Amino acid sequence: GKSGYDHYMLKEINEQPHALRECLRGRPRELDASIEIDELEGLERPERVHFVACGTSYHAALYGARLFREQGIQTNTFLASEYDVDAIPVDEGTLVVGVTQSGETADTLGALRAANRIGAETLSVTNVVGCSAARETDYVMYIRAGPEIGVAATKTFASQQVALAMLSRALTGACSSAFIKALRALPDQVQSILDTSQAATVADEYVDADAYFFIGRGYNAPVALEGALKMKEITYKHAEGFPAGELKHGPLALVTERTPVFSMLTGDSNAEKMLGNVREVESRGAPIVAVTDVPAQVATHADHVLEIPNTHRLFAPILANIQLQLVSYWVANQLGRSIDKPRNLAKSVTVE
Ligand code: M6R
Repeated sequence: GKSGYDHYMLKEINEQPHALRECLRGRPRELDASIEIDELEGLERPERVHFVACGTSYHAALYGARLFREQGIQTNTFLASEYDVDAIPVDEGTLVVGVTQSGETADTLGALRAANRIGAETLSVTNVVGCSAARETDYVMYIRAGPEIGVAATKTFASQQVALAMLSRALTGACSSAFIKALRALPDQVQSILDTSQAATVADEYVDADAYFFIGRGYNAPVALEGALKMKEITYKHAEGFPAGELKHGPLALVTERTPVFSMLTGDSNAEKMLGNVREVESRGAPIVAVTDVPAQVATHADHVLEIPNTHRLFAPILANIQLQLVSYWVANQLGRSIDKPRNLAKSVTVE
């Protein structure tokens, strides 16, 4: 059941601290600052990585791919439906990673099967024990989020991000005690966001907006895409997500005083450039909602602040996304939408 929540989506958003604890269980090793993923024994550092995924899982893959690249591994991310092994160099040195909550998404299975045929090593990162993806790949890593009933992926996205962060370290051996400490802190930090979030107030304020924009740079860019997808999926309202630098190359033309812009302003190296992008939309009169771990520094640029706790620079996007999930949920709730089963959508998409 929904354990007293109005919707599975809200229940699952609230289950994230537990889901993340499960994902972490037994994997980070404090003693030698390493990450061990038992089920991946024998899998070595790959020469190249291709991620294949759809929807929310694709956004998690975009985030994961950046982590791999930072470790010096040549990494690309593909929408599974666009993966074409005849056109893209794939060989035995390539690890093809299917990120799929259900493990039954036809597009993702198709991409993994093509990779298998060509002789690449394959790995699925999934939530469902014994799913098709798990059965058909050489290796499987479980994200252990527990069953997700709501069509909108929420807790599984956070768990995918954490799983991929661990995977990037497990396969490269490059970890640090700061990384592990920050990972371990995430479940409690997510809980503190759930306990204090002002997302419902922000949702009330902007429920009548014409459209919602989401912007972020670097590790936050995939979360901007995910914020917009979630908003569209459950509110049926127009939403767009961008790497913030792209705004001025076109989408800025859509921004008016009726377009709230959710801006991921976390205290990383892109803060200056992000503030520049925020100024671009501010000067068009757009309301700014800052999702930030440095509220004092951004307060003058924001109409609303959704605060997240301070974390490792790589994990701020995981926390920022929790606030975005809540905003979408409360907007959809205000609008009386069918939150757990949005029109036209299915939990797992088994046709190509
Ligand atoms: O089960 P999968 O992770 O392979 O599903 C992929 C997408 O269909 C899925 O993430 C979809 O985008 C969600 N409904 C988004 O909330």
